[in-house]
Amino acid sequence: MPAFWHWFIAIGTVVFIIWCAWLISWSAKQGPQNVADEDLVGHKWDGDLEEWNNPAPKWWLYLYFITIIWGVGYLIAYPGLGAFEGALDWSQHNQYEAEMAAAAERYDPIYEDFAAMEFEELSRHPEANQLGASLYASYCTTCHGSDARGAAGYPNLTDDDWLWGDSEAQIVSTIANGRVAVMPALAPALGGDEGTANMVRYVRSLSGIEEADSGAASMQPMFVALCSACHMADGTGNPMLGAPNLTDDVWLYGSSSDAIMTALVHGRNGVMPAHGDLLGTNRSKILAAYVYNLSAAERQAD
Ligand code: HEC
Ligand code: HEC
Repeated sequence: MPAFWHWFIAIGTVVFIIWCAWLISWSAKQGPQNVADEDLVGHKWDGDLEEWNNPAPKWWLYLYFITIIWGVGYLIAYPGLGAFEGALDWSQHNQYEAEMAAAAERYDPIYEDFAAMEFEELSRHPEANQLGASLYASYCTTCHGSDARGAAGYPNLTDDDWLWGDSEAQIVSTIANGRVAVMPALAPALGGDEGTANMVRYVRSLSGIEEADSGAASMQPMFVALCSACHMADGTGNPMLGAPNLTDDVWLYGSSSDAIMTALVHGRNGVMPAHGDLLGTNRSKILAAYVYNLSAAERQAD
């Protein structure tokens, strides 16, 4: 806070408090004034209550003074008077730090015990999963949805289809270090509109959504030349690069011709942000195990 505002607020507050105290005691002492005697009927109640003079009850007055004294005490103890920090050295920041430290002391040993467990076992541990679910709710729902089923561009975490791999190391790394997918815009290399449209149909034929006509079939060598480095020659994808399997029925952006056309014309760059700094190693592993367990049902069905 600039010095000017500090003094402006501090002096203003003090002057105002003194003025309030003076005003209350001054007005309490006022009797009937400037009222001609003939206007008075001479009635008096409770010793001091006359016409034109309704003094506040004493207890009411004291409440005002108690409030003022309490206010002064508060301003001495806590921040409030300009930039003065208060005698108790209390601040929201200190309180937050203290609460975080208390929480860490309480939960860190629990996180540590879970993180020491073997991954598969951890993924089936009910309490660890409860903890994972609450971490998921705090950090992951905005993108992957509260049911973890994702949306276009945000992978479904409940299926057993993994862009970046399903081993402990891969999932932990996805969460802690993040992932950046690079699908380049390749339409110009495909020979213009016709070549691109043929490639869209070729891609759709890989998963049997449509039958490859001769135009689409003619793109096979082009696919091997331009796409296989990431999606493999047979189109089954590569988890090292996050390149999706194009032969199955799981689509990150959708299987429509439009969605595939967009990938070829504009490229795709899905970003999973790194959460390692936020979560730390132990909680990253607990979350990875939780996410892995979300697809357990589908894994068993396979
Ligand atoms: C440099 C590596 C690379 C090359 C080359 C590449 N892709 Fe991709 N492709 C990716 C990655 C990575 C993604 C995932 C993008 C994301 O997650 O945002 C992707 C996504 C896609 C998708 C969307 C899949 C979905 O599930 O929605 C299609 C379709 C696709 N690529 C087709 C192709 C075709 C056809 C070619 C060749 C003309 C090609 N890609 C070349 C890396 C590549
Ligand atoms: C800002 C949005 C965002 C947030 C927040 C986010 N993710 Fe992601 N996540 C993504 C995107 C986008 C991808 C896909 C990246 C790509 O295109 O390959 C992804 C990918 C993943 C994958 C890889 C899935 C696979 O098929 O391999 C996992 C696992 C994952 N996220 C878990 C999490 C967890 C756990 C959290 C919470 C700590 C989280 N994500 C928070 C956007 C997000």
